[in-house]
Amino acid sequence: MSDILVVRDIEKTFGAVVAARDISVVVPVHQTVGIIGANGAGKTTFVNMITGHLTPSKGSIHFENKDITGLPSRDIVRLGISRSFQVAQVFPTMTVLENMRIASAIANSRDSILDRLFRPIDAPGAVVEADAALDLFQIARYRHAKAVTLPQGVRKLLDIAMAVAGSPRLLLLDEPTSGISIEEKFGLMEVVMSALKTRRITVLFVEHDMEIVGRFADRVLAFYDGTVIADAPPKAVLADPKVQTLISGTQRAHVGQADA
Ligand SMILES: Nc1ncnc2c1ncn2[C@@H]1O[C@H](COP(=O)(O)OP(=O)(O)O)[C@@H](O)[C@H]1O
Ligand SMILES: [Mg+2]
Repeated sequence: MSDILVVRDIEKTFGAVVAARDISVVVPVHQTVGIIGANGAGKTTFVNMITGHLTPSKGSIHFENKDITGLPSRDIVRLGISRSFQVAQVFPTMTVLENMRIASAIANSRDSILDRLFRPIDAPGAVVEADAALDLFQIARYRHAKAVTLPQGVRKLLDIAMAVAGSPRLLLLDEPTSGISIEEKFGLMEVVMSALKTRRITVLFVEHDMEIVGRFADRVLAFYDGTVIADAPPKAVLADPKVQTLISGTQRAHVGQADA
């Protein structure tokens, strides 16, 4: 199996704060990787370096054998890496279908900024892709609802469906279930993960809930204080004494807080 992402010894400092250090990770194509760690452990910093929202202070990142270290995020998106943020990035006053068509129109436009801005959202390619995406993410019945009126879980699905427009090969999800109740989380992740499997997309997802990670990840990276302290299949990571001491206690506390 070939490797889609090769991260070599990256580091990120913000003044005196070392947000990430000595991180080396090789991800084979089609793997689903869960990322765990307490608040402030460096998970988002890691994601941001891969997507070009932050430039590593040192080290290198290769995607499909191309060096993408320090490239601007718009170039990285064009190469085939997409992401979602912790808070859904949808246009609140537009309908689900309009949001999806805009995402498809932008993603399908490989040309100039002007072309991207003025490309009609009813261009045939965008319409077909938008309809297929709403079906795949099981939100077609909300197509005419304004995004602002959607239940939180549906808004998350729309956000991720939009991130998948343009057929990225690698997708990074930063806490896709944040703000979702325990009862809804599994259902949401089932829909997301089966959609991404259908599209054969390699996934890195940040998640606080260990049960979700255990259920959906092939492999888990455990972050602590800016570095990866365990990298193995979920069972092995969750049983790792270092992870239990340094992360599991704080994870439970965090999950408890989020549900309070
Ligand atoms: N833009 C920034 N400026 C300064 N410090 C930052 C910045 N972004 C993150 N940090 C710090 O880097 C560390 C890791 O943060 P982050 O990657 O957001 O953690 P996580 O996503 O695991 O909660 C934290 O100590 C955080 O305060
Ligand atoms: Mg974060």
